Amino acid sequence: MIISIRHHCFSRWPVVLIGTLTDEGKTTFGPYSLLAPFYVAGKDYYALLLECRNSSNTAQNLIKHKKCTINFLPDDRKYFKETVRLGWPGDKPEEKMKDFNLKLEDGLRKEEDPAGTYPQVIKQAFQVIECTWVDTLDNAQDTRPLNEGEDHYDLEKYHDFNGITTPFGAHFVLRIDHILMKKRYYNTIVNGVKASGFPRVPVDYGYRDSKNFWYTKHRRPIPELLPMRETTVASVRYAADRLQTDIEFTDEALAMLVKVPRVFLPTVLKGCVKWAEENNVKKIDVQEIQTINDKRSKEKKK
Ligand SMILES: Cc1cc2nc3c(=O)[nH]c(=O)nc-3n(C[C@H](O)[C@H](O)[C@H](O)COP(=O)(O)O)c2cc1C
Repeated sequence: MIISIRHHCFSRWPVVLIGTLTDEGKTTFGPYSLLAPFYVAGKDYYALLLECRNSSNTAQNLIKHKKCTINFLPDDRKYFKETVRLGWPGDKPEEKMKDFNLKLEDGLRKEEDPAGTYPQVIKQAFQVIECTWVDTLDNAQDTRPLNEGEDHYDLEKYHDFNGITTPFGAHFVLRIDHILMKKRYYNTIVNGVKASGFPRVPVDYGYRDSKNFWYTKHRRPIPELLPMRETTVASVRYAADRLQTDIEFTDEALAMLVKVPRVFLPTVLKGCVKWAEENNVKKIDVQEIQTINDKRSKEKKK
């Protein structure tokens, strides 16, 4: 590690090890697979949704200390064995962590705030997501931890999607603070993908029977070409004319938008008009589109 990236490319995830803080400020891990993207665009932050047993160490630590690290381990039988070992329900952090055989290091949160206490990240992971529970969603900020000896919650009312959602279940909307990646895989995403630059991701669909947890070993990925469709300047002009604005677009400017899928064209064109109005520009040409694109990519990076 360590490099920070805004976007990542999984839409369904393999088993991960979630690191949370104990009351003593130590990091403890539990394996989880019920994790899904929650906010992927349009909000101030990206978020994931974790679904887990509410009496687990992970759930209780999230309720108390809010922070976690989501660690993606490469395909290796010894890592998977360790992952499955950490999944025995009821083991206390000190019991399971005394034989923990992976290496730990600090993440970016700690680097940003050296005085703070944050769960550590696993050195062998090819990717780690540092998160904070958004306890204000669904008004879950008053969630109390379980008392000693309690193994579930008995509430009058359960939350809908964040906090304690059933007597034995919990959901956590986790804000993404940082995505850390090994440099090699970061480069693959940013500079163009090669099959050899993929992390060795084990494929697992949470399939288990009473004896085993099952997964498939990583295989060399195969690319499938994305559709590359272009419309014509005339049809971009048609969409632009429908905006009923005095701002003028040159043909050269519209030619820069022929790859924009038709469903997004009105939004993109309206964005250009809004920018022109704010900047007192009457005519949008190539230079203006470039400026708008630069502004957009800067905003995305933020
Ligand atoms: C491969 C694997 C995947 C798992 N996925 C989940 C899950 O998504 N949600 C869940 O509640 N438990 C899941 N479990 C069970 C938890 O790991 C188990 O409850 C464990 O005790 C949690 O550890 P913790 O108490 O330290 O958080 C999984 C277990 C394994 C072995």
